[in-house]
Amino acid sequence: MSRIAYVNGRYVPHGSAQVHVEDRGYQFADAVYEVCEVFDGKIVDMTRHLDRLDRSLRELSIGWPVARPALERILREVVDRNRVTYGLVYLQVSRGVARRDFPFPPAGTKPALVVTSRAIPRTVAAKVADEGIRVITTPDIRWQRVDIKTTGLLAQVLAKENAKRHGGKEAWMYDADGNVTEGGSSNAWIVTADGVLVTRPAESGILKGITRAAVMDFAAREGLKVEERPFTIDEAKHAREAFVTSATGIVSPVVQIDDAILGNGHPGVLASDLRRRFHEGVELLPVRAY
Ligand code: PDD
Repeated sequence: MSRIAYVNGRYVPHGSAQVHVEDRGYQFADAVYEVCEVFDGKIVDMTRHLDRLDRSLRELSIGWPVARPALERILREVVDRNRVTYGLVYLQVSRGVARRDFPFPPAGTKPALVVTSRAIPRTVAAKVADEGIRVITTPDIRWQRVDIKTTGLLAQVLAKENAKRHGGKEAWMYDADGNVTEGGSSNAWIVTADGVLVTRPAESGILKGITRAAVMDFAAREGLKVEERPFTIDEAKHAREAFVTSATGIVSPVVQIDDAILGNGHPGVLASDLRRRFHEGVELLPVRAY
Protein backbone atom coordinates (compact mmCIF):
# COMPACT_ATOMS: atom_id res chain seq x y z
CA MET A 1 0.00 0.00 0.00
CA SER A 2 1.42 3.44 -0.87
CA ARG A 3 1.88 6.09 1.78
CA ILE A 4 -0.13 9.30 1.79
CA ALA A 5 0.96 12.71 3.10
CA TYR A 6 -1.14 15.80 3.76
CA VAL A 7 0.41 18.98 2.30
CA ASN A 8 -1.38 22.32 2.48
CA GLY A 9 -4.90 21.13 1.90
CA ARG A 10 -4.26 18.01 -0.18
CA TYR A 11 -3.71 14.33 0.44
CA VAL A 12 -0.92 13.33 -1.92
CA PRO A 13 1.27 10.27 -2.53
CA HIS A 14 4.13 10.43 -0.01
CA GLY A 15 6.78 9.89 -2.68
CA SER A 16 5.81 13.01 -4.59
CA ALA A 17 4.74 15.23 -1.66
CA GLN A 18 6.49 18.59 -1.95
CA VAL A 19 6.83 21.98 -0.27
CA HIS A 20 7.99 25.18 -1.94
CA VAL A 21 11.73 25.99 -2.11
CA GLU A 22 11.04 29.22 -0.23
CA ASP A 23 9.07 27.63 2.57
CA ARG A 24 10.47 29.29 5.69
CA GLY A 25 10.65 25.96 7.44
CA TYR A 26 13.06 24.79 4.76
CA GLN A 27 15.14 27.98 4.70
CA PHE A 28 15.17 29.14 8.32
CA ALA A 29 13.76 26.24 10.37
CA ASP A 30 11.03 28.82 11.01
CA ALA A 31 8.62 26.05 11.87
CA VAL A 32 7.27 23.98 14.74
CA TYR A 33 6.19 20.36 14.93
CA GLU A 34 4.60 17.65 17.01
CA VAL A 35 4.87 13.87 17.04
CA CYS A 36 2.12 11.71 18.55
CA GLU A 37 2.34 8.01 19.17
CA VAL A 38 -0.21 5.81 17.42
CA PHE A 39 -1.07 2.87 19.66
CA ASP A 40 -3.51 0.14 18.72
CA GLY A 41 -5.05 2.39 16.05
CA LYS A 42 -5.46 5.30 18.46
CA ILE A 43 -3.67 8.65 18.70
CA VAL A 44 -2.09 9.06 22.13
CA ASP A 45 -2.53 12.30 24.09
CA MET A 46 -3.53 14.38 21.06
CA THR A 47 -5.10 17.06 23.26
CA ARG A 48 -1.85 17.67 25.13
CA HIS A 49 0.20 17.64 21.93
CA LEU A 50 -2.09 20.21 20.30
CA ASP A 51 -2.01 22.33 23.46
CA ARG A 52 1.79 22.34 23.23
CA LEU A 53 1.57 23.13 19.50
CA ASP A 54 -0.61 26.09 20.36
CA ARG A 55 2.02 27.31 22.82
CA SER A 56 4.87 26.85 20.31
CA LEU A 57 2.91 28.76 17.66
CA ARG A 58 2.08 31.58 20.07
CA GLU A 59 5.68 31.90 21.28
CA LEU A 60 6.76 32.43 17.66
CA SER A 61 3.71 34.44 16.49
CA ILE A 62 2.83 31.86 13.86
CA GLY A 63 -0.89 31.41 13.22
CA TRP A 64 -2.77 28.12 13.17
CA PRO A 65 -2.70 26.84 9.57
CA VAL A 66 -6.25 25.47 9.95
CA ALA A 67 -8.66 25.53 12.88
CA ARG A 68 -7.87 23.07 15.64
CA PRO A 69 -10.84 20.72 14.97
CA ALA A 70 -9.79 20.59 11.30
CA LEU A 71 -6.24 19.69 12.28
CA GLU A 72 -7.58 16.93 14.54
CA ARG A 73 -9.52 15.52 11.58
CA ILE A 74 -6.46 15.70 9.32
CA LEU A 75 -4.29 13.84 11.86
CA ARG A 76 -6.86 11.05 12.12
CA GLU A 77 -7.34 10.95 8.37
CA VAL A 78 -3.62 10.67 7.65
CA VAL A 79 -3.20 7.85 10.18
CA ASP A 80 -6.24 6.10 8.72
CA ARG A 81 -5.23 6.53 5.08
CA ASN A 82 -1.81 5.07 5.89
CA ARG A 83 -3.38 2.15 7.80
CA VAL A 84 -1.07 2.78 10.76
CA THR A 85 -1.95 0.73 13.85
CA TYR A 86 1.34 1.15 15.76
CA GLY A 87 3.66 4.01 14.87
CA LEU A 88 3.53 7.77 14.80
CA VAL A 89 1.85 10.78 13.25
CA TYR A 90 3.98 13.85 12.52
CA LEU A 91 2.78 17.38 11.92
CA GLN A 92 4.76 20.45 10.97
CA VAL A 93 3.65 24.07 10.69
CA SER A 94 5.97 26.62 9.09
CA ARG A 95 5.51 30.37 8.88
CA GLY A 96 4.74 29.85 5.20
CA VAL A 97 6.20 30.63 1.81
CA ALA A 98 7.74 34.02 1.05
CA ARG A 99 10.77 35.60 -0.66
CA ARG A 100 13.82 34.87 1.50
CA ASP A 101 14.09 37.68 4.05
CA PHE A 102 14.79 37.37 7.77
CA PRO A 103 11.96 39.43 9.31
CA PHE A 104 8.47 37.94 9.27
CA PRO A 105 6.83 37.78 5.83
CA PRO A 106 3.99 40.14 4.83
CA ALA A 107 0.74 39.89 6.77
CA GLY A 108 -1.55 37.39 5.12
CA THR A 109 1.22 34.86 4.39
CA LYS A 110 -0.42 31.55 5.14
CA PRO A 111 1.31 29.12 7.53
CA ALA A 112 2.14 25.84 5.78
CA LEU A 113 0.97 22.48 7.14
CA VAL A 114 2.41 19.03 6.49
CA VAL A 115 1.19 15.83 8.16
CA THR A 116 2.69 12.37 7.70
CA SER A 117 2.29 9.05 9.46
CA ARG A 118 4.23 5.83 9.52
CA ALA A 119 4.12 2.44 11.13
CA ILE A 120 6.87 1.28 13.49
CA PRO A 121 7.40 -2.49 13.58
CA ARG A 122 6.45 -4.05 16.92
CA THR A 123 9.81 -5.80 16.93
CA VAL A 124 11.54 -2.44 17.45
CA ALA A 125 9.57 -1.76 20.63
CA ALA A 126 10.05 -5.33 21.85
CA LYS A 127 13.83 -5.06 21.49
CA VAL A 128 13.93 -1.82 23.51
CA ALA A 129 11.78 -3.40 26.22
CA ASP A 130 13.94 -6.54 26.37
CA GLU A 131 17.39 -5.04 26.05
CA GLY A 132 17.08 -1.36 26.96
CA ILE A 133 19.20 1.27 25.26
CA ARG A 134 22.64 2.79 25.58
CA VAL A 135 23.04 6.57 25.73
CA ILE A 136 26.12 8.64 24.86
CA THR A 137 26.73 11.97 26.59
CA THR A 138 27.62 15.16 24.74
CA PRO A 139 27.65 18.90 25.54
CA ASP A 140 24.34 20.68 24.93
CA ILE A 141 25.10 23.24 22.23
CA ARG A 142 21.51 24.33 21.53
CA TRP A 143 19.91 27.78 21.68
CA GLN A 144 18.03 28.96 24.77
CA ARG A 145 14.45 28.43 23.56
CA VAL A 146 14.47 24.65 23.62
CA ASP A 147 11.08 24.88 25.34
CA ILE A 148 9.62 25.60 21.88
CA LYS A 149 9.30 22.51 19.69
CA THR A 150 10.90 23.91 16.54
CA THR A 151 12.28 22.02 13.57
CA GLY A 152 15.69 23.63 14.25
CA LEU A 153 17.20 20.33 15.33
CA LEU A 154 20.74 20.43 13.93
CA ALA A 155 22.36 20.15 17.37
CA GLN A 156 20.30 17.02 18.01
CA VAL A 157 21.12 15.62 14.59
CA LEU A 158 24.83 15.91 15.46
CA ALA A 159 24.35 14.59 19.00
CA LYS A 160 22.34 11.57 17.87
CA GLU A 161 24.69 10.80 14.99
CA ASN A 162 27.58 10.85 17.46
CA ALA A 163 25.62 8.55 19.78
CA LYS A 164 24.91 6.18 16.90
CA ARG A 165 28.60 6.03 15.94
CA HIS A 166 29.39 5.03 19.50
CA GLY A 167 26.73 2.34 19.66
CA GLY A 168 24.11 4.48 21.42
CA LYS A 169 20.41 4.85 20.61
CA GLU A 170 20.12 8.25 22.27
CA ALA A 171 22.36 11.20 23.19
CA TRP A 172 22.19 12.74 26.66
CA MET A 173 23.13 16.40 26.48
CA TYR A 174 24.62 18.21 29.48
CA ASP A 175 24.84 21.88 30.40
CA ALA A 176 27.83 23.98 31.55
CA ASP A 177 27.39 22.67 35.14
CA GLY A 178 27.58 19.05 34.01
CA ASN A 179 23.86 18.49 34.58
CA VAL A 180 21.92 16.43 32.07
CA THR A 181 19.47 18.57 30.15
CA GLU A 182 17.63 15.96 28.08
CA GLY A 183 17.96 13.42 25.32
CA GLY A 184 18.35 14.41 21.68
CA SER A 185 14.67 13.61 21.17
CA SER A 186 13.50 12.55 24.64
CA ASN A 187 13.43 13.58 28.30
CA ALA A 188 15.94 12.01 30.69
CA TRP A 189 15.11 10.32 34.01
CA ILE A 190 16.94 8.44 36.74
CA VAL A 191 15.70 6.36 39.65
CA THR A 192 17.55 6.80 42.96
CA ALA A 193 18.55 4.00 45.33
CA ASP A 194 15.37 4.64 47.34
CA GLY A 195 13.11 4.51 44.30
CA VAL A 196 12.57 8.23 43.66
CA LEU A 197 12.02 9.27 40.03
CA VAL A 198 14.21 12.25 39.17
CA THR A 199 13.93 14.45 36.10
CA ARG A 200 15.08 17.97 35.28
CA PRO A 201 12.54 20.77 35.95
CA ALA A 202 10.81 21.96 32.80
CA GLU A 203 11.63 25.61 33.55
CA SER A 204 14.98 25.62 31.79
CA GLY A 205 16.99 23.61 29.34
CA ILE A 206 14.37 21.13 28.19
CA LEU A 207 11.27 20.58 26.12
CA LYS A 208 8.33 19.87 28.42
CA GLY A 209 7.56 16.39 27.14
CA ILE A 210 4.03 15.09 26.89
CA THR A 211 5.24 11.59 27.75
CA ARG A 212 7.07 13.10 30.74
CA ALA A 213 3.76 14.57 31.93
CA ALA A 214 2.03 11.21 31.44
CA VAL A 215 4.70 9.48 33.54
CA MET A 216 4.22 12.10 36.26
CA ASP A 217 0.47 11.43 36.23
CA PHE A 218 1.16 7.72 36.47
CA ALA A 219 3.55 8.24 39.37
CA ALA A 220 0.97 10.35 41.21
CA ARG A 221 -1.68 7.66 40.78
CA GLU A 222 0.67 4.92 41.95
CA GLY A 223 2.10 6.89 44.87
CA LEU A 224 5.62 6.99 43.38
CA LYS A 225 7.78 9.91 44.44
CA VAL A 226 8.96 12.30 41.70
CA GLU A 227 11.64 14.93 42.21
CA GLU A 228 12.08 17.64 39.59
CA ARG A 229 15.71 18.64 40.00
CA PRO A 230 18.89 18.68 37.92
CA PHE A 231 21.14 15.61 38.07
CA THR A 232 24.70 15.11 36.86
CA ILE A 233 26.00 12.47 34.50
CA ASP A 234 27.96 11.00 37.38
CA GLU A 235 24.82 10.64 39.50
CA ALA A 236 23.07 9.03 36.54
CA LYS A 237 25.90 6.53 36.06
CA HIS A 238 25.46 5.41 39.66
CA ALA A 239 21.66 5.49 39.66
CA ARG A 240 19.61 2.40 40.30
CA GLU A 241 17.83 2.85 36.96
CA ALA A 242 17.56 5.33 34.15
CA PHE A 243 15.15 5.79 31.28
CA VAL A 244 14.03 8.23 28.61
CA THR A 245 10.53 9.31 27.62
CA SER A 246 9.21 10.41 24.24
CA ALA A 247 6.15 9.95 22.07
CA THR A 248 8.01 7.55 19.80
CA GLY A 249 9.76 5.51 22.48
CA ILE A 250 7.28 5.97 25.36
CA VAL A 251 9.39 4.77 28.31
CA SER A 252 12.72 3.33 27.16
CA PRO A 253 14.97 1.81 29.84
CA VAL A 254 18.61 2.97 29.74
CA VAL A 255 21.09 0.20 30.58
CA GLN A 256 24.36 1.97 29.77
CA ILE A 257 25.60 5.58 29.88
CA ASP A 258 28.82 5.95 27.88
CA ASP A 259 30.89 3.04 29.25
CA ALA A 260 29.11 2.77 32.59
CA ILE A 261 26.70 -0.15 32.86
CA LEU A 262 23.72 0.53 35.11
CA GLY A 263 22.80 -2.08 37.72
CA ASN A 264 22.95 -5.54 36.23
CA GLY A 265 22.89 -4.22 32.68
CA HIS A 266 19.24 -5.13 32.13
CA PRO A 267 16.20 -2.82 31.98
CA GLY A 268 15.22 -1.68 35.48
CA VAL A 269 12.10 -2.97 37.22
CA LEU A 270 10.47 0.45 37.58
CA ALA A 271 11.22 1.60 34.03
CA SER A 272 9.92 -1.69 32.66
CA ASP A 273 6.75 -1.40 34.70
CA LEU A 274 6.19 2.18 33.57
CA ARG A 275 6.65 1.09 29.99
CA ARG A 276 4.32 -1.91 30.26
CA ARG A 277 1.54 0.09 31.90
CA PHE A 278 2.10 3.39 30.13
CA HIS A 279 -1.12 3.38 28.12
CA GLU A 280 -3.38 2.82 31.13
CA GLY A 281 -3.87 6.48 31.91
CA VAL A 282 -3.28 8.33 28.64
CA GLU A 283 -5.85 9.80 26.27
CA LEU A 284 -6.47 7.35 23.42
CA LEU A 285 -8.36 8.77 20.46
CA PRO A 286 -9.64 6.24 17.92
CA VAL A 287 -8.61 7.22 14.41
CA ARG A 288 -11.96 6.19 12.96
CA ALA A 289 -15.13 7.50 14.52
CA TYR A 290 -17.50 4.49 14.33
N1 PDD B 1 10.85 14.39 20.23
N2 PDD B 1 12.92 16.52 24.31
C1 PDD B 1 13.18 16.68 23.01
C2 PDD B 1 14.34 17.51 22.60
C3 PDD B 1 12.36 16.07 22.04
O1 PDD B 1 12.60 16.24 20.74
C4 PDD B 1 11.27 15.27 22.47
C5 PDD B 1 10.36 14.59 21.49
C6 PDD B 1 11.05 15.12 23.85
C7 PDD B 1 9.92 14.31 24.39
O2 PDD B 1 8.69 14.94 24.21
P1 PDD B 1 7.34 14.11 24.03
O3 PDD B 1 7.24 13.23 25.21
O4 PDD B 1 6.30 15.14 24.00
O5 PDD B 1 7.46 13.31 22.75
C8 PDD B 1 11.90 15.77 24.74
C9 PDD B 1 10.04 13.80 19.18
C10 PDD B 1 9.48 12.45 19.54
C11 PDD B 1 10.83 13.81 17.90
O6 PDD B 1 11.48 14.81 17.66
O7 PDD B 1 10.74 12.86 17.12
